[in-house]
Amino acid sequence: MLVLGIDSSCDETAAAVVRDGREQLSSVVASQAELHRRFGGVVPELACRAHVENYPWAVDEALRRAGVTLADIDGIAVTNRPGLVSALLVGVSAAKALALATGKPLVGVDHIVAHIHASCLLPGGGPEYPAVALVVSGGHTSLYLLRSPLENDLLGATLDDAAGETFDKVAQILRLPYPGGPSIDKAAREGDPSKFPLPRTQPRAKGADGEGALDFSFSGMKTAVLYRAFGQDARPETARTSDPLVPVADVCAGLQAAIADVLVQKTMAAVRKTGVRQVVLGGGVACNSELRKRMTEAGAARGLRVLIPPPALCTDNAAMVAVSGWFRLSAGERDGLDMDCHPRPVRAAARR
Ligand code: KG4
Ligand code: ZN
Repeated sequence: MLVLGIDSSCDETAAAVVRDGREQLSSVVASQAELHRRFGGVVPELACRAHVENYPWAVDEALRRAGVTLADIDGIAVTNRPGLVSALLVGVSAAKALALATGKPLVGVDHIVAHIHASCLLPGGGPEYPAVALVVSGGHTSLYLLRSPLENDLLGATLDDAAGETFDKVAQILRLPYPGGPSIDKAAREGDPSKFPLPRTQPRAKGADGEGALDFSFSGMKTAVLYRAFGQDARPETARTSDPLVPVADVCAGLQAAIADVLVQKTMAAVRKTGVRQVVLGGGVACNSELRKRMTEAGAARGLRVLIPPPALCTDNAAMVAVSGWFRLSAGERDGLDMDCHPRPVRAAARR
């Protein structure tokens, strides 16, 4: 079964063709990073205008690189949640138009679940179930127990900022280019994390059953970086007009180590709690070199199978959307042309 995937949930217009949920025939991403750079973040109106301009090319190019035509496609999968609604609407409208014109089945896909399904494109295949997944992106930091490809329980999530948002906001403080994650990762290579230690914030578990023990909190990191790098009486304006008192590389290395440490520690706590032997990592922050290294080491030390897709499959792409769509289509699921877009993810099963 050939599935055409489309994603326009944030600032990348993506299209891809995947065979049988595991073989990527093409993956095209029209990045808008340049467009949003001078604003230091995604400007929704600019993003959706760029999606309108880019998606016909992205779809054509994905089909061309896969060596197929629209007539060869068996189903169309599109991200319809979560994301910027105006941006989602462009991809969803495009997918509906293609479905209407060709009569091919259409399915909506949850972008967060798709980040998990990116691991199915690894040469050794996706996880065996059950597994624990950590999705770390610009908008989400969540731990799931995967019972099957389409059944997840939410184990924990950030109570405030997402990990990627923290990288992006600290990069702004340090006047490093947008998107912040890759800039910090690069600068950190020359840095020493021990020169800039940061607190590992742990939200307190509520009640005797430990509820909330797998939640995250990153919002204190920005202020911690501001005070430690620019002085205890620093204000956000201080960072705009003066240079940090410590080398930027050390700040980046310290931040990266602190975030990676918390993410790995909570993931391993989720593994202990659920007794699973497989861990899946997904989302843009999963490109982070320190996180990849620490998660791989922690998994090896415990004899776990750790699945970390290559960077191009961690950041936003439509191949993961095609995989997710394939799971839904194979299960006989379909959406109608009245399918909606939603800013929030599908409600995961009750927290455990
Ligand atoms: O999954 P993604 O491409 O888009 C969302 O769904 O949000 O994730 C984007 C996020 C951004 O916050 C970006 O700074 C972060 O992923 N990111 C990284 C790295 N590459 C991308 N964060 C840390 N280290 C990286 N190497
Ligand atoms: Zn994403």
